[in-house]
Amino acid sequence: MIRFDRVAKRYPSGREALAEVSFEVGAGEMVFLTGHSGAGKSTVLKLIGLVERATRGQVLVGGQNLAGIARAGVPYYRRQIGMVFQDHKLLHDRPVWDNVALPLVIAGVPRREADRRVRAALDQVGLLGRERGFPIELSTGEQQRVGIARAVVGKPPILIADEPTGNLDPDLALEVMKLFRRFNEVGVTVVIASHDVHLVERFGVRRVALAGGRVVEAEAATGAGAAAAPSSPSSAPKPPATDAGGARA
Ligand SMILES: Nc1ncnc2c1ncn2[C@@H]1O[C@H](COP(=O)(O)OP(=O)(O)OP(=O)(O)O)[C@@H](O)[C@H]1O
Ligand SMILES: [Mg+2]
Repeated sequence: MIRFDRVAKRYPSGREALAEVSFEVGAGEMVFLTGHSGAGKSTVLKLIGLVERATRGQVLVGGQNLAGIARAGVPYYRRQIGMVFQDHKLLHDRPVWDNVALPLVIAGVPRREADRRVRAALDQVGLLGRERGFPIELSTGEQQRVGIARAVVGKPPILIADEPTGNLDPDLALEVMKLFRRFNEVGVTVVIASHDVHLVERFGVRRVALAGGRVVEAEAATGAGAAAAPSSPSSAPKPPATDAGGARA
């Protein structure tokens, strides 16, 4: 579903965020992207979301080489990707309904259909009935769930989340992660960047660990919560990754 093939990313500042990153995420799989601050987790997600483009190498999503997508095609491409951010980026002067409906409005979905889908998405995150409220009237965890509802409202096959639990206390963080797992259980491919080692371990889904601009560890799911992990048939290729001691970052 998602494949990075020797991807490098150098920002205009000259900073090389990714040196050579290769990994694969199978359709319907859930993967954690881990690594220290600055390891390149957000960069990987931005490449998947086509917010940034690779400097070298190939990023393939759903069999499509993203280098071949022209600027005009980006909004259309993004309809298959739900994005969740740490600070949830909600519009505070708009009710919850407007926030969740945003991707549908942009895609030109008729009001009635949008309304039906917004309710379904809010129901999935446990916030049905809150559509008229404003984000400010919601708790941090609830706001994050609104952000998730917005990400899934268009039923994208892929969900990417950048530190979605970064601002939440441990209990809420676990709740939000379980929410992601539920979407994964119904077939959505999920990639979550997180440096919360404890949470990641507790969840026991496959990890792709970044350090020094490379994948240093791409391991199978282990541990208690591993039940939901669909031991991927696309067993992550281990590129020149395991330069073991790779604690260079
Ligand atoms: N827009 C940008 N312009 C220049 N350099 C950038 C840009 N975005 C990220 N970088 C640099 O690229 C490297 C990787 O950044 P990235 O945000 O991907 O790391 P991260 O793993 O998400 O870190 P964190 O855990 O702190 O969020 C860092 O050195 C960062 O300073
Ligand atoms: Mg980041």
